[in-house]
Amino acid sequence: MKKVAVFGATGSIGKQALDVIDKLGWQVVAATAGSNLHLLQELAYKYSIPQIAVRSLKNELADDLVKRNKLISFAEAIEVAKEKADVVVNAVSGFAGLEITIAFSNTSKRIALANKESVVCGGKLLKGVKAEIVPIDSEHTSLLMLSEFVKRPYIARFGITASGGAIRDVDNPRDLSAEEVLRHPNWNMGAKITVDSATMFNKALEVVEACWYFDVDVEDVEVVLHRQSYVHSFLRLVDGSLIFAVSDPDMRFAINYALTYPEVRGSFRKEFNVNGDMEFCRIDEEKYPLFFYALDKFKSYGESAMVALNAADECAVEDFLRGSIRFGEVIDRIIDVVERVELKQEFTTIREIEEFDKYVRERYKETFGK
Ligand SMILES: NC(=O)c1ccc[n+]([C@@H]2O[C@H](COP(=O)([O-])OP(=O)(O)OC[C@H]3O[C@@H](n4cnc5c(N)ncnc54)[C@H](OP(=O)(O)O)[C@@H]3O)[C@@H](O)[C@H]2O)c1
Repeated sequence: MKKVAVFGATGSIGKQALDVIDKLGWQVVAATAGSNLHLLQELAYKYSIPQIAVRSLKNELADDLVKRNKLISFAEAIEVAKEKADVVVNAVSGFAGLEITIAFSNTSKRIALANKESVVCGGKLLKGVKAEIVPIDSEHTSLLMLSEFVKRPYIARFGITASGGAIRDVDNPRDLSAEEVLRHPNWNMGAKITVDSATMFNKALEVVEACWYFDVDVEDVEVVLHRQSYVHSFLRLVDGSLIFAVSDPDMRFAINYALTYPEVRGSFRKEFNVNGDMEFCRIDEEKYPLFFYALDKFKSYGESAMVALNAADECAVEDFLRGSIRFGEVIDRIIDVVERVELKQEFTTIREIEEFDKYVRERYKETFGK
């Protein structure tokens, strides 16, 4: 039985991870949240998790929990995980997840990494570290699975699919509200990634993620729009043939494989049935300008472009979810801020990345206020 620590346990991925871990019969030694102590406590009770922590404490119930040594500090949770866990699931959303990945990067643990911002913003620091980093993302986890079966010299390109998010059938999405954009047609995910799915910034993050995991250039990663989200990824072989990874759109497949890799096992199983068509088409440049813009910047400026884009995206999406701007402005604001900052930074420490992230957020606030 393996021992697991789950960071971001109250989120969409975190809750599904607890379910998958439970079905595997493994034990959760510690779990954390940002601030939702109420839900974290419920989950701790449901899954018999001995110790929990939140990043920021807003709850008066805490005293009693602290006395019972149930609620520990965030730093202590990292120590408990270092001491007791074989696997760390990082399901924290956004840039905040990088610090957690870095904290475990020089341990001999597996980091099952949903927090894509970690490798997108801190990829250079995470190359060659002692920890084994395995992706939790339907595209990358299935690519990992496919690449277990095909020898590397036979692979010409790595392919991932995009659903197109909530705007794919909307002619003019600029005026959409958060409520409308949060109605994702295929996936039930956290709010931030659901908006990023509609701007397709999420897909740009995933291309960069694929470059990191499979050691390839942007040109070696192909993206196609696939409405049904049955096909998550594909390999294009040197002879022109294609191998697809297909499953229901259910993140538990990816979580399960990231935990048990390279084995394919677990009590979590589903019969897959294709009902209806499977469509594939190119990404429309007019509809998804941020996808093309982000990858152009990445090609020219590397990681510093991704840190800037990600920081601006987090600020703009927060404003959008709060209702202060409409969908089109999310994209306008990100591009505006990224155009204002110097993108030629080379990062050698996490502090430098954090400083640059902070600098970009300040430019955002300066430009658009709070
Ligand atoms: N959802 C998906 O299907 C999916 C698929 C692939 C990849 N991912 C990636 O997985 C990550 C998590 O996504 P999600 O959709 O599960 O997000 P989510 O539902 O918003 O959950 C985020 C989790 O992180 C915690 N958190 C937020 N800010 C934090 C901070 N500053 N410090 C510590 N913990 C913090 C939240 O705690 P509170 O509940 O207290 O706020 C929550 O537990 C993202 O990087 C996303 O891109 C998600």
